[in-house]
Amino acid sequence: MKTFLKKHLPTPALNIARKMRDTLPLWRFTKKGRWIRRQYWQFGQDQRDFVFMSIARFLHINRPIPGYYFEFGCNEANTMRKAWNHFRYLFDFQYVGFDSFQGLPAISEIDEQPIWEEGKLAFAEKEFIRRVVRNGMPADKLQTVSGFYDQSLTEPAKQRLLPTKAAVIYIDCDLYVSTVPVLSWIVDFLQIGTVIVFDDWYCFHGDPERGEQRAWNEFLLANPDLRFVEFVRTNEAASFIFVGRKEAA
Ligand SMILES: C[S@@+](CC[C@H](N)C(=O)[O-])C[C@H]1O[C@@H](n2cnc3c(N)ncnc32)[C@H](O)[C@@H]1O
Repeated sequence: MKTFLKKHLPTPALNIARKMRDTLPLWRFTKKGRWIRRQYWQFGQDQRDFVFMSIARFLHINRPIPGYYFEFGCNEANTMRKAWNHFRYLFDFQYVGFDSFQGLPAISEIDEQPIWEEGKLAFAEKEFIRRVVRNGMPADKLQTVSGFYDQSLTEPAKQRLLPTKAAVIYIDCDLYVSTVPVLSWIVDFLQIGTVIVFDDWYCFHGDPERGEQRAWNEFLLANPDLRFVEFVRTNEAASFIFVGRKEAA
């Protein structure tokens, strides 16, 4: 078909056809497009819903676990809206989104992979807030902390949010270098029952020496007194529950 069009259409018509192909998402209505939307993409959504509903049930059964819903890596507000949709009727959380709102930082050697590049996934803070509020979250329930984590996750930023603890900490910032400062900063927000989710657990081909897995393993070694148990997993994410500090020997 492609070759037929190329052969028989005059160049201007061919250019128009190409433009239409590139601007109109006609592929969505092909058999493949329908499969991608209804099964492949929907599978990803269902898996995320499973994680959030599992957390809702866990927190509710062990109620009350109050506090913050922290999200590190906010982008287009898909996850923040999911969090609100799953938690709004059961918990009175405060929701805090942490992001550079300028996309990914410069990519260090340890995080090099063809899909990552500096500035990728940039999304304006104002638009992020607008989407979350339009989805039903009252504006006074949402805070944002803007900036790259190695600069924004400071002691004063922590003091502004303490003494309230976190109920859920959702880490969705892809890179090892981004996850390290997040983990060392959240320690003071842990309470028994806090759930930590890593959205990108199997990035970097699932290699435990890279990405969120590496940051988590190093964090556990550096904090041997903190006790966690594994919670739900999907094909993309892993989660853990904080169960308290080890008794001093
Ligand atoms: C995969 S996106 C998050 C997707 C988001 N949860 C959603 O539902 O749309 C990753 C986000 O992490 C942010 N990010 C990654 N590394 C960061 C860093 N070091 N400091 C601040 N933000 C960072 C990026 O700006 C980007 O918005």
